[in-house]
Amino acid sequence: MSTARNIVVTYALPYANGSIHIGHMLGMIQTDVWVRFQRMRGHTVHFFNGDDAHGTPIMLSAEKAGISPEELISRYHQEHSKDLNDFGIEFNNFYSTHSPENEKLASAIYLELEKNGHIAKRTIKQAFDPEKNMFLPDRYVKGECPKCGADDQYGDNCEACGATYSPTDLKNPISALSGVAPIEKESEHYFFKLGDFEAMLKDWTQSGHLQPEVANKLKEWFESGLQDWDISRDAPYFGIPIPNTKDKFFYVWLDAPIGYFSSMLNYAAKNKDFDFEAVVKKDSAIELLHFVGKDIIYFHALFWPAVLTGSNHRTPDAVYAHGFVTVNGQKMSKSRGTFINARTYLDHLNPEYLRYYFCARLNHSLDDIDFTEDDFTQRVNSDLVGKYVNIASRSANFIVKNFDGKLSGELDKPELIAKISGEAENIAQLYENREYSKAVREIMALADLANQYIAEAEPWKKIKADETRDAVQGICTTALNAFRILTIYLKPILPKIASEAEKFLNLPPQQWQDAQNTLLNHAINPYKPLLQRIDPKEVAKMTDAEQQAATEAAAPQLSNPLADEINIDDFLKVDLRVAKIIEANPVEGADKLIQLKLDLGDGVTKQVFAGIKSAYNPEDLAGKLTIMVANLKPRKMRFGMSEGMVLAASGEGPGIYILEPHDGAQPGMRVK
Ligand code: MSP
Ligand code: ZN
Repeated sequence: MSTARNIVVTYALPYANGSIHIGHMLGMIQTDVWVRFQRMRGHTVHFFNGDDAHGTPIMLSAEKAGISPEELISRYHQEHSKDLNDFGIEFNNFYSTHSPENEKLASAIYLELEKNGHIAKRTIKQAFDPEKNMFLPDRYVKGECPKCGADDQYGDNCEACGATYSPTDLKNPISALSGVAPIEKESEHYFFKLGDFEAMLKDWTQSGHLQPEVANKLKEWFESGLQDWDISRDAPYFGIPIPNTKDKFFYVWLDAPIGYFSSMLNYAAKNKDFDFEAVVKKDSAIELLHFVGKDIIYFHALFWPAVLTGSNHRTPDAVYAHGFVTVNGQKMSKSRGTFINARTYLDHLNPEYLRYYFCARLNHSLDDIDFTEDDFTQRVNSDLVGKYVNIASRSANFIVKNFDGKLSGELDKPELIAKISGEAENIAQLYENREYSKAVREIMALADLANQYIAEAEPWKKIKADETRDAVQGICTTALNAFRILTIYLKPILPKIASEAEKFLNLPPQQWQDAQNTLLNHAINPYKPLLQRIDPKEVAKMTDAEQQAATEAAAPQLSNPLADEINIDDFLKVDLRVAKIIEANPVEGADKLIQLKLDLGDGVTKQVFAGIKSAYNPEDLAGKLTIMVANLKPRKMRFGMSEGMVLAASGEGPGIYILEPHDGAQPGMRVK
């Protein structure tokens, strides 16, 4: 093996005002697998993360929840640590940007930038909310698009026509916080002069630190010129105060990547063998790699290397970006019911299934990865259970029952084992290059070979005849050696299952190099099933739980209707109709659903799956009138199409109450 590397790895810091979801998990898993792989190769790897705890959204979330920002971020810190740990993400430290270390480092870096002439001060005009008494970030100003006139657009770009502009260009702007018209107000801002680093960045971005498609995209950004970067925010702001100012704070994206360093610094104080200065100093020989999602490349590939250079620090060796997780082909969104929380997942399913699924789909590109229930279930069941675990479950019991749990002194088929162990370097290269889907495909092809071998060797037949009985020990020893090597190859992805397999095989934690050993004359332990097939019902329960949570969360708050007001046109878009329930049936495999057939008059019928089973017996519903949303886009569910929604009331406690019009209403009547 090549000489040992010393590597520091980070993943993007999740914001501390929301729960971890499976989108975050994609990047966390990609990074964790890479880290575990390198550790198995004998390299020194430190892996750092933490919460990104500053900024306006966090300040406002805390206010809305009626707690201090400190309390909010501390709650999320606990929740995030637990979720990530339960997914097997093995950080050296999970820290926070709201920390003394981060304040110290951010201030020092800023002062150095200022000393070196990279900070400019300018007075700018900005939208100001006179009622909340604060400047409004672009996202908090809404109004009509200056280009196309579309209503209710954000202050930075129009979702209708795609125009970009500044909030002061909006027509009839209002503050999304208070609903009042913002005024324009001047204030002095601090800027980082990104243009000072143009030459350095042109070189750095085009010299192998980035994926080729990212490097190409950045060329376009250079063409439009590097603008000064506004790094200050006025009070009230939850962040780090800018030294030597009154009431000015660092914009969250200035101190966020410095959070990588503060997580290291905090760790170094407790672990004397980790030398923080050696990592961050100019021309450091220690590798520094940042894994991030594709939406935040700009910050990591331009601002961050420039800030580091301007403050006499090293630059990263690489920024590796990944694509986005979509669910059923759509952007994850709570309101669309395509959102999967990390904890909801963990409540229903084994985390290693998801680790496997993502790796089976991941490569080194920025492509998005779609999660669908069927693909997920099928992939895990056919590969992990049907191929990999199958090798052990078909061979272990013969050894335990017939040969005192002892492997033979010789393999029945050494060529098979030589073939499997011979792929170690090939598979290692694929891990190294983040080509996990290819690695998984190789590993599963080897598992196919092992299963084919067992099928042909037929140990279950040979065990029955005296003259062939002894051969079974060599056959199963071959199979279990194949299983052991595949376990090593899968161990970065499946750390818990691999550790269970090591216990069963009676082995210490295996390293990559151990794929070259052969296990002979060795006592193993009784075999317990390592992994269950995914029950599709559990996956369905998980998505049902999310959809339930989504409808509850989507409800506007009665106490603060202003931000959620709609106009009459919005309301009239919803086609509400009186519908007669002509059939109601339970749905097999879905505890909560009832299948309804609804008559809307004029011979129109619609099918709807309604989550009302906890409150109604299907047989009591037939013949009743109700109100339905008739123009809801049909949604494909596992049981069939759902072509609308019936209206029902529910509150905090149990109980669901279907709406019913007064006597005399006829199916098909419009409700408005
Ligand atoms: N706090 C910033 C990062 C600061 S790093 C110095 C941030 N936080 S985030 O919570 O919005 O995102 C954290 C990471 O999760 C980012 O890498 C982001 O790209 C990733 N993802 C968030 N949603 C995602 C998907 N739906 N799919 C894949 N990754 C996604 O950005
Ligand atoms: Zn527009």
